[in-house]
Amino acid sequence: MIVNEHIEDYINSLAGDIPEELDRLEKWALDNKVPIIRKPMQSLLAFLLKERNPRNILEIGTAIGFSTLLIEHYAPCDAKITTIEKVEMRLKHARKNLKDHPNITLIEGDALEKLEMLSTNHTEGYDFIFLDAAKGQYMSFLNSIRKLISDKGILVTDNVLLEGSIAESKFSIERRDRTIHKRMRDYLYELTHSEDFMTVVLPVGDGVALSYFNKNGGDA
Ligand SMILES: C[S@@+](CC[C@H](N)C(=O)[O-])C[C@H]1O[C@@H](n2cnc3c(N)ncnc32)[C@H](O)[C@@H]1O
Repeated sequence: MIVNEHIEDYINSLAGDIPEELDRLEKWALDNKVPIIRKPMQSLLAFLLKERNPRNILEIGTAIGFSTLLIEHYAPCDAKITTIEKVEMRLKHARKNLKDHPNITLIEGDALEKLEMLSTNHTEGYDFIFLDAAKGQYMSFLNSIRKLISDKGILVTDNVLLEGSIAESKFSIERRDRTIHKRMRDYLYELTHSEDFMTVVLPVGDGVALSYFNKNGGDA
């Protein structure tokens, strides 16, 4: 936890209730140790979806479909949601949880390959992308994301502060975590220093990067 626990508990106590179906799924995920978005990220996503009204949404990292259904709940009712997951243990639950939702398309397989495939086939850009998959791969997804995101679209990346360790020198990071530490720093540097993304990093949950895509950089 990045923010003082006491403060985070208080902020969470202000968050509104989620629908019963989502509440049940959240409890199931927590009981079964499935890593899903926590309250602060849920509230931020809800806010962004209501404010931006995206019509074409892409999620990378479905797990059992909790965040997918939360996104569906707060997005406009005619929004189309595409979500990608590769692990069978998660997919078997995602298929069941998402099957009665015709506006949600579950793509099964490695996002690296599936994003590349989508970027060659997909003509309409995604105006909202939620990235919540393997943290060490974020940088490798970015090329495809650039092709897939629509101009003025938003990219929301979860877990970017690595429980605060991102701010530590690489020498104080355990050797086995150094690769992920470097990759995440490179990813955040790229998002915050490239012409086409305008990015703010916030200490919400485990850290979130909000990136606004502007194809023409500062010119438009
Ligand atoms: C943190 S969980 C996602 C949680 C979900 N967004 C939620 O809040 O309900 C990350 C998921 O990304 C999946 N994942 C990681 N790397 C992936 C990849 N390269 N392609 C597809 N899925 C991937 C993992 O299997 C895992 O289920």
